Amino acid sequence: MSQTGIPLNRHIMEQQKDYPEATGDFTGLLTQIALAAKIISREVNKAGLVNILGFTGEKNVQGEAVKKLDIFANEKMIEALTYSGHVCIMGSEEDAEPIALPPEAPRGDYAVMFDPLDGSSNIEAAITIGTIFSIHRRISSGADGTLEDLLQPGHQQAAAGYVVYGSSTMLVYTTGNGVDGFTLDPSVGEFLLSHPNIRTPERGSTYSANEGNYQYWHPEMQCYMDHIHEKDPASKRPYASRYVGSLVADFHRTLLYGGVFLYPADSKDPKTPTGKLRLLYEASPLAMVIQEAGGKASTGTENILDVQPNKLHQRVPLVIGSRAEVELAEEFFQGNR
Ligand code: AHG
Ligand code: MN
Ligand code: MN
Repeated sequence: MSQTGIPLNRHIMEQQKDYPEATGDFTGLLTQIALAAKIISREVNKAGLVNILGFTGEKNVQGEAVKKLDIFANEKMIEALTYSGHVCIMGSEEDAEPIALPPEAPRGDYAVMFDPLDGSSNIEAAITIGTIFSIHRRISSGADGTLEDLLQPGHQQAAAGYVVYGSSTMLVYTTGNGVDGFTLDPSVGEFLLSHPNIRTPERGSTYSANEGNYQYWHPEMQCYMDHIHEKDPASKRPYASRYVGSLVADFHRTLLYGGVFLYPADSKDPKTPTGKLRLLYEASPLAMVIQEAGGKASTGTENILDVQPNKLHQRVPLVIGSRAEVELAEEFFQGNR
């Protein structure tokens, strides 16, 4: 295991020693994502001082009002990846269609999906927000990447991770060889290894869900919620409720402390019957991270990493966290309780 305090790029190169076939491409790619994260972190940490708060007045493909910081973060991620020389196509929550590279940009072998700014509704309140990324090896063969390179199931991911802009800025990633967390030291502008080999506790007694949706949840989710509200000290019930409203913040806490996060299907909006969260740049990358840390991610009936994507912005129900907690929820979702 690498020793605490080493910088991110040295850690990536040490990891690549275990993969003789790995080329330096991945190091370059992750270094570029880390660069974008540092730039976004700088703006997030002074958002109130520069004219970067508030709405742009537009709506994105999700039909959501767009925040200036959403656009800023999206531009920085696209810039960092476009000229990395390691990418052949990108997809972003903020762009309806796949993002092709300009003619002059060097192409590479990776397809990258990202949620550039997760938790937008929390920006003005200075509450923790994040960036989520998912990296696939391309499967198409032409000069440019295609939608096919982006619509790959989660178990095909080459790497996945997220940045959390909170009391500190952390970058957490996996290449399928465990999960490691890095904390940004702004005085040197480096992500330094602070959480080597993160493991999620097998059980946890906190749950994270927007209970305001209780009347819109399907009966199996209501039954599960009623179950974890019951008084039973032997099974540490009732569980404690924790909900930030930024997926990255709720996930990061669940990854480190254990517990379960749920954003299930609901009947709130007929346009989004399978819940609010997106498969390719929210559920799938976090599912790879949690599974690599010993936890689990499910739709309630299927492992998130097995879901075959068919649309760029498709949504999916998400139950993610400690293995035993996800499996308990699955029993309710599968009608076995
Ligand atoms: P984004 O800001 O990228 O659109 O994501 C917001 C998501 C996610 O961060 C969070 O878990 C969820 O929205 C919260 O939704 P509710 O406000 O419906 O609870
Ligand atoms: Mn998001
Ligand atoms: Mn977002």
